Amino acid sequence: MHWPLAGLLLAALLGLPAGAAAEQQRGRLLQQTPQDCSNTASGRWFITDDRGMVCERQQLDHQSGCCTTGQQHSCDTCEAEDRCCSQYEHCVSCCLKPENEPEAHMHDIYRGRNKPETGHWETPFQYCQAVCRTTARSTQHENAFILDRKYCFSKLGRPHVPVPPAPPLPHSLKLVAGAAAQPCDAACAAKGMACKAEHFAGLNDCNSLRAKFMCEAGCGAAASDQREFPGYIEGSAPKHQRPAFCAVLPPFPGQAGPAFNCSQAAGSVRRLCPCEPLPAAAVAASQGAGGAEGAAAQQAAEAGDTAQQAAAVAQQAAAVQEAQAQQQQAAAQQQQPGDAAAQQAALQLGQQQQQQVQQQAQPQAAGTE
Ligand SMILES: *[C@@H]1O[C@H](CO)[C@@H](O)[C@H](O)[C@H]1NC(C)=O
Repeated sequence: MHWPLAGLLLAALLGLPAGAAAEQQRGRLLQQTPQDCSNTASGRWFITDDRGMVCERQQLDHQSGCCTTGQQHSCDTCEAEDRCCSQYEHCVSCCLKPENEPEAHMHDIYRGRNKPETGHWETPFQYCQAVCRTTARSTQHENAFILDRKYCFSKLGRPHVPVPPAPPLPHSLKLVAGAAAQPCDAACAAKGMACKAEHFAGLNDCNSLRAKFMCEAGCGAAASDQREFPGYIEGSAPKHQRPAFCAVLPPFPGQAGPAFNCSQAAGSVRRLCPCEPLPAAAVAASQGAGGAEGAAAQQAAEAGDTAQQAAAVAQQAAAVQEAQAQQQQAAAQQQQPGDAAAQQAALQLGQQQQQQVQQQAQPQAAGTE
């Protein structure tokens, strides 16, 4: 207790920042008394101290912060190939193992991700804690197979897995939980959308499933030919069907990825479906592109409010473009030349419509990051 105080006094006298002095002070104390450790602190069951020792919480000496017993430089839940572990504390411990050269890798990353101005970590322990934590965050939304070993002390920061990393889902896509025995085609159609099989890869993970279903019995892999997954098996299902279990679809043998299918269904399975809103064109068409309205769209476009139009197009992307193309087509068919008054009325209607399109587009754009 006296030494840190003395250190702070010294720091004050020398005008050093207190933190830096404390850091130096601690460094010295570590050399003098190895029984003073920093540790990972947050683990529920395990702790790793800065000597790379992993122990259970009750084996921690709370006075010194050191593990009293345990395994040093343990790579228990890690794989050497990709340097990824399923336990954070093993990741830190293994990372500190001399043959993994933490001193050398310390300079690979910045304290703030990709921010050189934040500098590098000062000790291998700080570095290992940070690198193991950072990669865990970055793999959180990836495939379920990745999730198991999400703590990596590699520069890549990702486990090697047999499935290609999932492409990010488009912002327009909605994740819809189907009813029991309902194929995704029907689940999406019920909400005025269409199932897009190419986007299953982006939701085929336990996080996505848990966001929609309780998964009381856990989450894991289905058989590769159970194409009614990813999904949730209802609690009322017979025992052998694993009631209340969430399942992701693993890669199909001999193929690069799982064999996703929008039209499959099974008795007690509620599917998780990638649904894409139907293009605005389809909606507009179904509302009846009645004469004045259709002509109005054409007039508005010709009136040359191009800034507005460009913004709307940028925000709604392909859907709006397609809608406009169709509206213009409809307008071209229905436009009667020479009736100036009608055209003027149509023009006003068209501008209102444009504003509506924009207002609808805005919340969507705001929803994107
Ligand atoms: C999806 O499943 C249906 C019904 O079994 C089948 O007819 C269809 O060919 C499958 N589609 C794909 C893309 O595999």
